Amino acid sequence: MQTHDTVPAMQTLARDTRAAGQTIAFVPTMGALHEGHLDLIRLAATQGDVVVVSIFINPTQFGPNEDFERYPRDIDGDLAKCREAGAHHAFLPERSPLLPDDYSTYITEEAVAEPLEGVSRPAFFRGVTTIVAKLFNIVQPHVAIFGQKDAQQLAVIRKMVNDLHFPVEIVAGKTTRDADGLALSSRNAYLTASQREGALGINRTLNQIKTMVDQGERRAERLVAEATHLLADDRRIRIIYVAAVDPATMKKQTEIEPGNSLMAIAIWMDQTRLIDNILL
Ligand code: PAF
Repeated sequence: MQTHDTVPAMQTLARDTRAAGQTIAFVPTMGALHEGHLDLIRLAATQGDVVVVSIFINPTQFGPNEDFERYPRDIDGDLAKCREAGAHHAFLPERSPLLPDDYSTYITEEAVAEPLEGVSRPAFFRGVTTIVAKLFNIVQPHVAIFGQKDAQQLAVIRKMVNDLHFPVEIVAGKTTRDADGLALSSRNAYLTASQREGALGINRTLNQIKTMVDQGERRAERLVAEATHLLADDRRIRIIYVAAVDPATMKKQTEIEPGNSLMAIAIWMDQTRLIDNILL
């Protein structure tokens, strides 16, 4: 695996790869890689000839009181994992060439990004769409892989790609879970054993909601109420949102449409913000 740390080096690689008739499959990450990221890299290897992983902790997607400073960093470990999962190239840009002090161009998706995460993290999607658009211009992928765990991010990126005519196919990777059901996330590293135990309530809740839908329940209000009730079982959980939404638009649904509905949950487990979802 080769590493590239400048924009011109990465763009040259992209141009040469394309000129050689090879396709580029891209996995953007913020590092602190876990098995979920590795599954996305393995999926990328099935989608293109050359797999590129970027590692960049994007400051523009963190709010002023969020965890940018303490976000887990392990570049050597990350590179070893990328190599092991089958990446051919890692792009590790420095902050200043990507976001110099006079940087002033942002991309804002104004519909899908508005509810849920958009309410509780107002700066988040503007930062994500801006950096992903920049990375697409640098890496020039044919295919880019995003995890289903960040369902709203996936939907916002799809909308941006469609609205701005990026010639990139967006492929969703399934959520990877630990054996006990907890969705893998770099932020799980913040959890103590007991907080982690409490966080399992999210997955239990989502499974219970899916069972209710499979048994015929269609009223979103009823399902949201049940999920809220189940989550409230653990006093340390503070609910940020529980919603039944259309997975493409993130608009709230009143009636569940099996195959086209998503139950999305965000909570605080003490100081750690966790999200998860299930397709209903
Ligand atoms: O999902 C992430 O890790 C980030 O939001 C992304 C897509 C790499 C943009 O910084």
